[in-house]
Amino acid sequence: PSILVLNGPNLNLLGQREPELYGRETLDDVRRLCEREGETLGLRVDFRQSNHEGVLVDWVHEARGTAAGLLVNAGAYSHTSLALHDALRAFEGPILEVHLSNIYRREAFRHHSYVSLAATGVICGLGSEGYRIALQALRARLAAAAG
Ligand code: DQA
Repeated sequence: PSILVLNGPNLNLLGQREPELYGRETLDDVRRLCEREGETLGLRVDFRQSNHEGVLVDWVHEARGTAAGLLVNAGAYSHTSLALHDALRAFEGPILEVHLSNIYRREAFRHHSYVSLAATGVICGLGSEGYRIALQALRARLAAAAG
């Protein structure tokens, strides 16, 4: 099975922007972590990042019929994007939402996520470890669904 990992705006700057909040790891480090974990779990990991809302929407559409599950860190679009929410609603498989930081310890405008309304589960505050745990959760969900 194949998992599409979607990263939203500004996550390309991971390791450089607000390192006290997001750490020193780069997005490439997170990609390698996900690919390694995918190999362990028997999942094909397709890891992507875009700063553009419509591109993320297109990728969710593309995932319909090609990906078994989604891992989504939509960055700030989590808090604003009805379009991404609607696209995720049209995806049939499990969706794990991940945030590196604990969004509930931060500004009030980060406490609401449109992605959460479409997600199977949410992991936040665990840094890149959250991506690894999300992949494990997706694997378990897919195995359970396959019987
Ligand atoms: C984030 C949290 C969002 O509020 C923020 O806009 C980001 C990163 C996280 O991974 O902690 O860009 O999604």
